[in-house]
Amino acid sequence: MINRVYASSYEGFVSQKIDIANHLHNEGWCIIEAWNSDPETLLQIASSFGNLQTHVRSNEQGIVGLGGDTLSGDWKENIDEYRGVASNDPFDMHTDASFLNGMFLVNGKMQTITSPKILFLQCVVPADSGGENVIVDHQKILLELLHTNPSLIKTLSAPGCAAFCRDDQIAYGVSVYRKLSNGNFGVRFRFDQAVYCPTWSFESMKSVHKNYHHNEKFRQYVPLRQKEILIVDNWRVLHGREKIFGMNRRFRRMWVSANPHEMLNAENRPRMHRAINHLAAYCDVPTMFTNLFVDIKFGIKLNLSNQLQMEDCIREAAILHPMYG
Ligand SMILES: [Fe+2]
Repeated sequence: MINRVYASSYEGFVSQKIDIANHLHNEGWCIIEAWNSDPETLLQIASSFGNLQTHVRSNEQGIVGLGGDTLSGDWKENIDEYRGVASNDPFDMHTDASFLNGMFLVNGKMQTITSPKILFLQCVVPADSGGENVIVDHQKILLELLHTNPSLIKTLSAPGCAAFCRDDQIAYGVSVYRKLSNGNFGVRFRFDQAVYCPTWSFESMKSVHKNYHHNEKFRQYVPLRQKEILIVDNWRVLHGREKIFGMNRRFRRMWVSANPHEMLNAENRPRMHRAINHLAAYCDVPTMFTNLFVDIKFGIKLNLSNQLQMEDCIREAAILHPMYG
C-alpha cells in the first residue's frame, strides 16, 4: 500500500513529516507503521498534529479503548447508541462526532466545540479475521457530484438538511457540506439511527450514501496490522469497519480537535449554562508537543473553478431550502 510510512522511533516519525503531510494532502489519510503499540506512542504521534479532544468514553488524555472511560460512566446507560462498542457488527461509513456542535466555557472564555479535525486509530491486536477498516475519500465524490449532480450538493449544503443526535449530544441545523475557515470544504455525515432529516433532504442523504459511500469505485479497504496507526482527515474522509470475527480485536482511538474560536458575550460575562453542560466531555487537551503539521489544510480541497462552483451551491442552498418558518 502506498499511503504507508514506517517509523522505528519518534525521531524516525519526525524525519518523515513531509511524506506524511503529502499523503494527508493528496489522499486524506495515511498509515504509520509505528515502533510499538503502546498508548504513549499513539499519544506522541497524535499530539504532533495539535490539541487533543476528549470523548465521553476516553481517559483524560483523550484515549478511547483498552481501559479508558474515566470521564463518565453515564453513557453506558445508552450503550446501544454507541456503534462499534461491544459489537462485532459492521460499522457503516461516517465521519466522527457528526453530533458535536456547540460551545463550552474554557478558562473564562466561551469556545466552540465541533467534530474533530483528525482521527487516529491504533491497532493493538487485529481481529482474528474481518474487521478491516474502510475508507472513502469524499473529495473524489464531491468532484464527481459537481459535474454530474450539483442539485444534490445544494440540498446537502442547506443548513438543517440533517440533524445528528447521539445520547446527550445533538447537532441541529447543520449541513453535510460546509465552507471551512481555511478555505477548504468540510463533510459531516452518517446515515443510521442517529440521523434525522426533513422530507426535502431525506432522499438526497440516502442517495449519496447508497450510490457513493457504498460504491466500490470509491471504497478502499485498509486492514491494519499490529503497531499501525491510521490517520484520517475527518473533514474529508469517511471511515467504517467490516464485520469482525472472533473476540480479540483491540484498538485505541484519539482525536485532534478543530481550532476552536471564541464566542463573545453581549455583556462580557460569559458563564456556564445548563444547556452546555453535556459538552464537558468533549473539550480540548492542550498538546505539550510542537505541532509539526501546522501548514496542512485539512478538509476537501478544490481547484479554483470547482471552488467557485461549490461556493455558488452553498449560497443557493440556503435560498432553496430556508430553515425557518
Ligand atoms: Fe468512527
